[in-house]
Amino acid sequence: MITQLPPLDPSAPEPGGAGPNHPMRKVTRQVAFETGGWTPERAKKVEALFDELAPEWASRHTDQRMTPLVDALDRGEVRAESCVELGAGTGPGTSVLCRHFKQVFAFDISQEMLRRLSPEWGRRVRSDASRLPLRDASADALILMNMLLFPDEVERVLAPTGALVWVNSRGDQTPIHLSAEDVARALPGEWSGTAAHAGTGLWCVLRRG
Ligand SMILES: C[S@@+](CC[C@H](N)C(=O)[O-])C[C@H]1O[C@@H](n2cnc3c(N)ncnc32)[C@H](O)[C@@H]1O
Repeated sequence: MITQLPPLDPSAPEPGGAGPNHPMRKVTRQVAFETGGWTPERAKKVEALFDELAPEWASRHTDQRMTPLVDALDRGEVRAESCVELGAGTGPGTSVLCRHFKQVFAFDISQEMLRRLSPEWGRRVRSDASRLPLRDASADALILMNMLLFPDEVERVLAPTGALVWVNSRGDQTPIHLSAEDVARALPGEWSGTAAHAGTGLWCVLRRG
């Protein structure tokens, strides 16, 4: 079961954005729900796309964009000492996470994105999140902000009592968007947790059971 908490700030403006016809929306759903949704060709395309977007991505580091992540860690009660951030990009989220966790591991498939992420925020690891260089059950918290969900890999690397933090900074207008219910439905087994709207975004924090 997912408990919907009240919006952090009910008067927040509606986000403008991508909407349900954005091409990344289809990729997001295929990766989450279909076997074979992520192919080596698709990985190359996505890597090239974000390598190209990297130089201007850092201009998106606004405090306002981080509101749902900060709220997720707070009201979602994420208390681990370390976290693994997948699809960290140039690190807008990492800059927040390094204040909350003692240790942050920032993963991304795009070298150009990671190159712009300050090593002071977290340890940078270039890797495809569909096949992480992590041991089974080794992550106490997995953070995905505007990032594709690879359900089997989340299930494999997240510790039994670990928390999955899912954030869409522009809510359902985010190109890489899934509702909290869809995230839970995509993951193997039973998951429950909390969800809320915060600022222009939404988040959920899910745990097994
Ligand atoms: C929409 S951006 C979000 C970046 C950052 N989290 C933010 O909110 O600004 C998605 C990021 O996920 C990365 N990404 C996409 N597919 C990935 C994969 N399979 N493995 C690792 N990173 C991936 C991209 O390179 C990109 O940096």
